Amino acid sequence: MLLNLKGGDWKAVRSSVTPAFSSSRLRYLLNLIDECGQQMVQYLRQFDNTEIEMKDVMGRFTLEVIGACAFGIKSDSLCEQNAKFLQVAENYDHMPFLKKLRVLFVLLFVPEFSKQFNISFLDEHNIAALIEMLQEAKSQRRSNTSNNKHGDFLQLILDAAEKELAEKGTQTCLDDDTIDGQSILFLLAGFETSSSLLSCSVLVLAYMEEVQDKLRAHIFEVTRDKEMTYDVLSQLDYLEGFLLETLRRYPPIARIDRVCVKPYVLPGTQVKINVGDVIAVPVTGIQMDAKYFEEPEDIKPDRFMRDGKVIKPSHTFLAFGSGPRNCIGMRFAMFSAKCAMVHLLKNFKFSVCSRTAYPIEYETNSVFLKAKAGLWVKIEKLQPNV
Ligand code: HEM
Repeated sequence: MLLNLKGGDWKAVRSSVTPAFSSSRLRYLLNLIDECGQQMVQYLRQFDNTEIEMKDVMGRFTLEVIGACAFGIKSDSLCEQNAKFLQVAENYDHMPFLKKLRVLFVLLFVPEFSKQFNISFLDEHNIAALIEMLQEAKSQRRSNTSNNKHGDFLQLILDAAEKELAEKGTQTCLDDDTIDGQSILFLLAGFETSSSLLSCSVLVLAYMEEVQDKLRAHIFEVTRDKEMTYDVLSQLDYLEGFLLETLRRYPPIARIDRVCVKPYVLPGTQVKINVGDVIAVPVTGIQMDAKYFEEPEDIKPDRFMRDGKVIKPSHTFLAFGSGPRNCIGMRFAMFSAKCAMVHLLKNFKFSVCSRTAYPIEYETNSVFLKAKAGLWVKIEKLQPNV
């Protein structure tokens, strides 16, 4: 997988999968994402005037999107409670606590054993079930000789593999395991992160009514009588500023790492960083530092706006990382989130309820940001065109 490759291998796979995130690809994928947004609205209508846990809802929406874009399947996670994809995808990292501790021990102290003994944080049965679904989707795609091809992520990577085979006569970079790895990666890298962004956003809006009203007015103004297209979503600057501010205040990934490849002495100190040393960059620490973001506890979407346009500081806003190894799915994640927020705010009003816990308190034993008490809000249907 891209996430754990290094050096030349990383470079080769990164450049093969980069076109999957181009703007022309996003334009196509947006139709699929928009369909998932419409399904989410249908699903949520049944909860009118009740209290609802948003991480669960946004998890379902995100899985629907990942299923459609990366696995070439419809999961129906917003309709059927027990859809197979939802069941296995939700539990991809399920593991009893003691086994987790053992895995952690191996990965920390004898990482070279992890490959030899096939040790990982992923649940082998659920991952096997996902791979089986992928095999089925891939063989359907490969037997499709018509010109009417899918335009999703899976098809793009299959086409790249076919091209490689035709040009080189062998599969050096995109063999079958690597293809499966990239689809699973979509789930690993995209599920918790994107559902966390969306659910935290809704919680913030429930708490900050005036920002919710301003955002809804902005969305109606930009999207009135228009289809959900790439260009329309690109014009939603205030929504983008709001999502970036939510990511600053509640980054789904609290730290990023780099491995030193050249000896380096920190300027003005005697601290030497040696080849192989791991440097941890504290994303939350930097994004919550008053030196860079005044009154960091407060949510202020305008921090990311200048003259009505979005501005993003490159090294103090680190929710998507930075540099050549930054998040490859950033634009995909932002467009999906914008699409979901448009559907949500046009159709529903959110407010705090008896179970809302704000500001969010985190679980302390999770790699990703996880809310201790869930993300509860009250949801009410809006009359059409309010
Ligand atoms: C709100 C949503 C998301 C957030 C906050 C997020 C955040 C991040 C962060 C912090 C990194 C590490 C970057 C670094 O070290 O500089 C990363 C890497 C990565 N992300 Fe995301 N991500 C999100 C959604 C996605 C999605 C939807 C995908 C879909 C494929 C994705 C794919 C990846 C991949 C493949 C990497 C590794 C890139 C590499 O090593 O070359 N992410 N992400």
